[in-house]
Amino acid sequence: MKHSNVKQIINIDAKLTDRINELLSHYPADKKKSALLPILHDVQDAHDNWLSIELMDKVAEILEIKPIEVYEVVSFYTMYNQQPIGKYMFEFCRTSCCCLRGAEDLMEYTCDKLGIQEGETTPDGNFTVVGVECLGACGYAPMMQLGDFYKEHLTKEKIDQLIDDCKDNKISLH
Ligand code: FES
Repeated sequence: MKHSNVKQIINIDAKLTDRINELLSHYPADKKKSALLPILHDVQDAHDNWLSIELMDKVAEILEIKPIEVYEVVSFYTMYNQQPIGKYMFEFCRTSCCCLRGAEDLMEYTCDKLGIQEGETTPDGNFTVVGVECLGACGYAPMMQLGDFYKEHLTKEKIDQLIDDCKDNKISLH
């Protein structure tokens, strides 16, 4: 499991605690682990979109499960980030349909334009580029996820526009 040496400030504030308790209320008291995935989403959202070992340990404590039970979920799903990421994370689908429609070329084009390799973040902390598995929008290939939204039928021109819009703070992530 790759993890970061960056120190993360953990802040399970009252609002997040209420949200966690609300999620836990959907499950029996002895089945708290059932709420793990949605809780991880909310905890990650409240912590700059990534989960340090210390934060995962805190989630394990809240759910009264072993830390390894959190690590194995976080390391399996690409929607959980184990490293600090850029403000804008371009998640390119690179499964078959998107690949056949040029997703890998577009990802390489984006990385070259931003001066980074896949999996890296630009020095200004603005952009991260990663490849992920099928996002279920195969009919709109090639596509990527940016925040909570899908960007579909991608072309180099659309990538250029997206990067410009991100730089101009014109992109909504939620
Ligand atoms: S193959 Fe890309 S969304 Fe399914």
